[in-house]
Amino acid sequence: MKSAEIRKAFLNFFEERGHTLVPSSSLVPENDPTLLFTNAGMVPFKEVFLGRDQRPYVRATSAQRCVRAGGKHNDLDNVGYTARHHTFFEMLGNFSFGDYFKREAIQYAWRFLTEVLGLPAEKLWVTVHHSDDEAADIWINEIGVPAERLARLDEDNFWQMGDTGPCGPCSEVFYDHGPDVFGGPPGSADEDGDRYIEIWNLVFMQYDRDSDGTLHPLPSPSIDTGMGLERMAAVAQGVHSNYEIDLFVNLIKAAARATGQSDPDQPSLRVIADHIRSCAFLIVDGVLPSNEGRGYVLRRIIRRAVRHGHKLGARDPFFHKLVADLDVEMGEAYPALRERAGQIEKILLREEEQFARTLDHGMRLLDEALNALSGDTLDGETIFKLYDTYGFPFDLTADIARERGVALDEAGFERELEAQRERARAASRFGADQVSELNLEGRTEFTGYDRLRDEADIVALLDEHGERCERLEAGSHGTIILSQTPFYAEAGGQVGDTGTLVTEQARFEVSDTRKQNDHHLHAGCLNAGVLRVGDRVTPLVAADRRQAIMRNHSATHLLHEALRRVLGDHVQQKGSLVGPDRLRFDFSHFESISPAELAQVEAMVNAEIMADTPVTTQQMSLDEAKALGARALFEARYGEDVRVLTMGTEHFSIELCGGTHVQRTGQIGPFHLVAESGVAAGVRRIEALTGTAALAHFRAREQQLNALAEQLREHPDQLESRLDGLLERNRELERELEQLRGKLASRAGNDLVDEAVEVNGVRVISRQLEGVGVRDLRGMLDQLKQKLGSGVVVLGVAGEGKVNLIAGVTKDLTDRLSAGELINVVAGQVGGRGGGRADMAQAGGSDPAALPQALDSVSEWVKSQLSHN
Ligand code: ALA
Repeated sequence: MKSAEIRKAFLNFFEERGHTLVPSSSLVPENDPTLLFTNAGMVPFKEVFLGRDQRPYVRATSAQRCVRAGGKHNDLDNVGYTARHHTFFEMLGNFSFGDYFKREAIQYAWRFLTEVLGLPAEKLWVTVHHSDDEAADIWINEIGVPAERLARLDEDNFWQMGDTGPCGPCSEVFYDHGPDVFGGPPGSADEDGDRYIEIWNLVFMQYDRDSDGTLHPLPSPSIDTGMGLERMAAVAQGVHSNYEIDLFVNLIKAAARATGQSDPDQPSLRVIADHIRSCAFLIVDGVLPSNEGRGYVLRRIIRRAVRHGHKLGARDPFFHKLVADLDVEMGEAYPALRERAGQIEKILLREEEQFARTLDHGMRLLDEALNALSGDTLDGETIFKLYDTYGFPFDLTADIARERGVALDEAGFERELEAQRERARAASRFGADQVSELNLEGRTEFTGYDRLRDEADIVALLDEHGERCERLEAGSHGTIILSQTPFYAEAGGQVGDTGTLVTEQARFEVSDTRKQNDHHLHAGCLNAGVLRVGDRVTPLVAADRRQAIMRNHSATHLLHEALRRVLGDHVQQKGSLVGPDRLRFDFSHFESISPAELAQVEAMVNAEIMADTPVTTQQMSLDEAKALGARALFEARYGEDVRVLTMGTEHFSIELCGGTHVQRTGQIGPFHLVAESGVAAGVRRIEALTGTAALAHFRAREQQLNALAEQLREHPDQLESRLDGLLERNRELERELEQLRGKLASRAGNDLVDEAVEVNGVRVISRQLEGVGVRDLRGMLDQLKQKLGSGVVVLGVAGEGKVNLIAGVTKDLTDRLSAGELINVVAGQVGGRGGGRADMAQAGGSDPAALPQALDSVSEWVKSQLSHN
């Protein structure tokens, strides 16, 4: 049975038994910070088990793609060492949400294995949790599994998704690959061998584990089962290793081809074949290689694959080439893989190239360290150096060390890492110390979401040196802190407000508003009057400027969402700057954006603007916001209650945001992209204009166009064809000019030939030229030699503080005169040197004033050479 057939038979079996077929979700769990990757079929159903999500079905079945690397279920280190571990695999599962429980789950499993797949019952072994008499009873007395093939285990039979979340006792089914393979039955000392392989896990979901480790009963007992497709295929296809199944055979061949390896049994090939699957699918699901979180796990897997290729002798990037082979194997079942194959290749190639720069050096360092080792543990300092300087993730070094039977001093590595963090912290503390602490109680209440004018008390004043003071005099600079203010303080990329704080006599111009802890600091200059602590003032935000900022901020949200929809889910905000004149948005994306895509993004944002929908804000808990699917800045930390901003048709954009926004999208006015560029590896930047700034931009462009048209005395509509005509005419003129130049040069050449002097029967030309480019010298020399037929030519050009020389001797004379020697003699007199062949030589010098005399010496030299010979 092919893998695809097993997948289909499984899903059919459970669909026929009332299970709803649910498609595989992303490898990146949606809104679940407790989990790095989808590591089991039940992950998409987590909330259903917990009773927080309702579905229209109580039975489900799925083939879920999973990654077990980094995080709780981590098989990365085992890949390449066992026949059954993968970083990426497909999990087949059936689920019951408060519907059937142990009995049906066990019966279904047994029937599928023995009736659909036709596995012999005597090859199947089972385990249950040591406390689970009920399951043991069903297996032995209802199914008929002999008691000696059932083991009661502890930890191995309690399954949990992560450190927290749904969990429960489980019962596993094992397949006996026969006495040819090493290993003992589950629970025995040799159980880690490859003979008895777990093929199906039935989890009796009963609890929710909280962060203290306490188990709370689930609303209703449920079933979560998981069967690894690759393991099952190995059983069905009668092979002992997952790497021998249909899904892997071709990939391993491809890996051998790409690395130039002829022995198909090299474990490194299995590693590469495994890793291309996880890497490609992680990228499909929006993960990009980086130095933190999910991106770092991806980077680690890529580097591990590249290292294994290196071990096989590959010295050029090879890993990315396997995407095409993977596409052949799995593109059909996963259209998204096919669609993005090109992008995946590019991303992998770039990673390979980047790592290639340090891999060789790192390997050498590691080899030396391993060779010099006296004990069996590699020291933390070396591991850290490999990590820090050569980009070797810890597990990569561990993988290499393991091949040599060496352990790693992980604690020593952690100490080095901590020391580095401490150095970084110390460096950043120094920066923070520069800002003096206000030491002020309370907080400034921000009232500027819906008004631009307010009444407030001055609670503190700072003079121009940032020191607390009681009063500010007219003409002085300072900072004012109010009880409440409509002035937005710079945050989340949005710049601070400007405006005025006025009383009947005083007028303070606010040039910027910043935040320190919970206070808004209005910085500026007191133009008139006196201000004291306790005074009541009227803060007035500069309204036009703020309107422009709000237009840009709302447009930034629409842009963010439009980019995701046009370019893909991997688009993540990396930074933004929202000012009155323009907006800037940085985001993750690995290649430049085509003009067509930019036009699509711009049109999408403008369509949302023209739909003129209300912009709404809501306070809610972070969990509620996540449930809504709100986008949040990845690194940002939010308090308990968050502000969620929604705008656009059908909740086009939902984002966590503390900034100020327009009331309706229509107020944004025209939106126009003006620039797209790359700012760092994998980060693009877009700049855009809205409202009056966009109009001003169009206007300026139009004026420019009109001015050009006027200059050409042409209607703007005709400019393009007119310009084409002009360029064509220009090319014609250049051609003509070229011809004329040639004629002139040949004329000048004739003149020079006429001027040639005879030295002992050899014609010699030695001339300084004006207005000749260095690049033309060679051509002139050849012409002159040709015209002379036989003779010696030296040409010189003087420029600002430099001289260029060329010398030539016709072939018939080169046995007696060498251009190379000649040029040296001449160049020596103008502060330079040179050399070359006997028939042609070039040189430079630094003393133009000496050029005429140097050229004069040529005849003399020719004479002396000829008389010597
Ligand atoms: N969730 C269970 C597992 O992954 C079925 O083994």
